[in-house]
Amino acid sequence: MQNVLVTGGAGFIGSNFIRYLLNQDPDVSIVNLDALTYAGSMENLGDLPGDGRHTFVQGNICNRELVSELLEKYQVDTIVHFAAETHVDRSILGPDVFVQTNVMGTFTLLDVARQFWLEMDAFSGQRVHFHHVSTDEVYGSLSPDDDDFSETTPYDPRSPYSASKAASDHFVRAYYHTYGLPVTLTNCSNNYGPYQFPEKLIPLMILNALNSKPLPIYGDGKQIRDWLYVIDHCEGIYRVLQNGRLGETYNIGGENQPFNIDLVQEICDYLDEIRPASDSYSSLITHVPDRPGHDRRYAMDISKINTELGWAPRYDLSAGIRKTVDWYLDNLDWVVAVMERGGLDDWINENYAKRGVK
Ligand code: NAD
Ligand code: DAU
Repeated sequence: MQNVLVTGGAGFIGSNFIRYLLNQDPDVSIVNLDALTYAGSMENLGDLPGDGRHTFVQGNICNRELVSELLEKYQVDTIVHFAAETHVDRSILGPDVFVQTNVMGTFTLLDVARQFWLEMDAFSGQRVHFHHVSTDEVYGSLSPDDDDFSETTPYDPRSPYSASKAASDHFVRAYYHTYGLPVTLTNCSNNYGPYQFPEKLIPLMILNALNSKPLPIYGDGKQIRDWLYVIDHCEGIYRVLQNGRLGETYNIGGENQPFNIDLVQEICDYLDEIRPASDSYSSLITHVPDRPGHDRRYAMDISKINTELGWAPRYDLSAGIRKTVDWYLDNLDWVVAVMERGGLDDWINENYAKRGVK
């Protein structure tokens, strides 16, 4: 791995991954292709080392000519593909762009990589690698007594977002089996940590609490997610890039499965401790109409990546939550900048006003 194309590197996980990889491997150079949608921002990349190993290109992964030009110009031997539309609620209100970016964009990258690496044999048989970053949501929703998701759990996506990610996963595997494109996949659970756009549960709750706004809990709040600190995810991907078996999928998860309502309570408790207000922040918790098709429970079986690659999460949830709350409190300038550029207020009006909160 020398010349890496990272897609979606101005987003939450992609920007954390670029920082991680540049620190981890001094020999690597990165081209970061990102369309800078509402979710991506140059503010996420402000503190990268200025040593010329990171080149940013604003552009769309669906642009075949551009992707082709980048692979050739930068002699890309490795692709780590994060770029996607990622918010389930947005996929419910506007699914089209999810199909476009997540399905067609992934297909475009795969096909250009096939052409450059296999047809043109750009590296004369030397190792090249396409890594696809995916989600646990492709496996569907668990009932209380179901086993955790493993790599062999049948796909059962239920939202337009997860359906589009499932389709992209299928294309990645199809390119491995049909053309021999050297691929790996990781399917990961809910990430949290620095630089997450504040439309997602944890940063939204932190910022609403600080602004004395309602904390909107969908339905009864007894849904369960498997939470992973973002740096742990970056490390898992890095292990797969180094030693993962081609053609294989690795599940990544945090082994933390709280009810949403308990997680929000934990954020409130910590804020009560470090930023006491006249009332506990938990008095802001407001139950609102549920997300349509809301998956009830996710839980990842991580034994494959643990046994084969020695990966396990390092952060426990309470420590990770505290670190994350501290980061948002210390980076309110970043919050203001990304909220403005990403039009977060408009999204809040669109998604929450009809649920009776703003
Ligand atoms: P994000 O929404 O924060 O960032 C996505 C990035 O992709 C943005 O910078 C955006 O500008 C860019 N992008 C979107 N469409 C593009 C296009 N057509 N061309 C080029 N760039 C485009 O997303 P994230 O939370 O960092 O997720 C990254 C990846 O990880 C996604 O593939 C997602 O499905 C997967 N994932 C996310 C989580 C999670 O909890 N956030 C968990 C598991 C897997
Ligand atoms: O599981 C991995 C997935 O995690 C990723 O693939 C997605 O890209 C990422 O967005 C995330 O999806 P979720 O839908 O689980 O994340 P979100 O933060 O939107 O919601 C987490 C839980 O909190 C979910 O059960 C819905 C609930 N929720 C969310 C919001 C935004 C609320 O109760 N209120 C809210 O306002």
